Amino acid sequence: MEILVTGGAGYIGSHTCIALLEAGHSVVVVDDLRNSRAEIIEKVERITKKKIQFYLIDVTNEVAVNEVFSNHSFDGVIHFAGLKAVGESVNQPLDYYYNNIVSTMILAKVCKKYGVKKFVFSSSATVYGENKVPFIETMELLPTTNPYGETKVMSERILADLARIDESFSVVVLRYFNPVGAHTSGLIGELPNGIPNNLMPYIAQVADKELDNLKIYGNDYPTIDGTGVRDYIHIMDLAEGHVLAMEKVVEGANIYNLGTGIGTSVLQLIGAFEKATGLKIPYIYVKRRPGDIAECYANVNKAKEELNWVAKRSLIEMCRDTWRFQISQNKKSDL
Ligand code: NAD
Ligand code: WQD
Repeated sequence: MEILVTGGAGYIGSHTCIALLEAGHSVVVVDDLRNSRAEIIEKVERITKKKIQFYLIDVTNEVAVNEVFSNHSFDGVIHFAGLKAVGESVNQPLDYYYNNIVSTMILAKVCKKYGVKKFVFSSSATVYGENKVPFIETMELLPTTNPYGETKVMSERILADLARIDESFSVVVLRYFNPVGAHTSGLIGELPNGIPNNLMPYIAQVADKELDNLKIYGNDYPTIDGTGVRDYIHIMDLAEGHVLAMEKVVEGANIYNLGTGIGTSVLQLIGAFEKATGLKIPYIYVKRRPGDIAECYANVNKAKEELNWVAKRSLIEMCRDTWRFQISQNKKSDL
């Protein structure tokens, strides 16, 4: 299949390009590099020994998107391009609503115009809000606490409405839990801007002595050890889920959780990282981060039954691959 990957130079997009190319598909990437670098595409080409056609465009530019579609006969689109910083979205709501929703609408419109029948969309576990864990696809969505989450809920609804009026237009909404880790080559991984907001890259920078210690946001949650529980999933498992979604789903509106189904606390993740690397992660407790929930993990039965997909990589592999990428960034000694 020939697949358009929007945001393909970003964290999840670049790893998915590897999985798609390794599965024998051809890949075209569009990205305006607002949160990534062109060299990532070259690294993906180096890893896979395959070529990617790359267009430097903003996907909210309808004219430019039309031009890309007119040059190809895409079998499907995977739409990763978007803004993703939860805290930033509270202060810049218009940027988030505009970029994340307009891009989805333009891509869907252009897909219809060019007869592209399959649309895979990056959603997030954040759409479950404060439902009871484990989160399952049939749950009613509860309000999220930030504009970022709302853009995911709205985009899901827009795509479901489109699938409803045209059975031949198949939509796959993938709700990611907490993607972490990196490709085993150490060549690509997550590249946060400035001080990381997310736990795993923060731990990696503490391990690398770029940051003094980890601040654990709260130790009074009703969880196994009082710290927040999440469903961490290896980025390559997540990437492979997209390939199966693209290959297996044929019609209608479809939603799948992509997670491991296993909840891990902050302290458990620190323990796994220390075990994987032999390094000590100093930490202190601070107050809860506003908007955080106690526990978030998936029921993953639907993806297993319908896509034949399960996450295979362990927490230790997630930590080891994160660390390999961290030290390769600094060109320090190898593991
Ligand atoms: P990322 O920022 O690494 O990648 C997004 C890419 O899209 C970047 O390369 C950026 O330059 C590009 N982009 C953004 N707006 C664009 C536009 N208008 N035109 C062209 N390119 C544009 O983020 P990621 O972690 O790879 O996330 C990919 C998708 O998955 C996003 O939609 C995000 O909301 C969603 N998601 C991410 C996570 C996570 O924890 N990383 C969790 C759930 C959902
Ligand atoms: C995990 C746990 C924190 C940092 C976010 C978005 C979500 C999704 C993925 C896009 C929590 C704790 C964290 C730190 C800490 N993104 N923590 N100290 O919040 O589950 O999800 O990223 O869709 O929408 O909200 O991930 O990695 O930030 O936090 O104690 O320095 O680690 O409180 O319990 P989160 P996270």
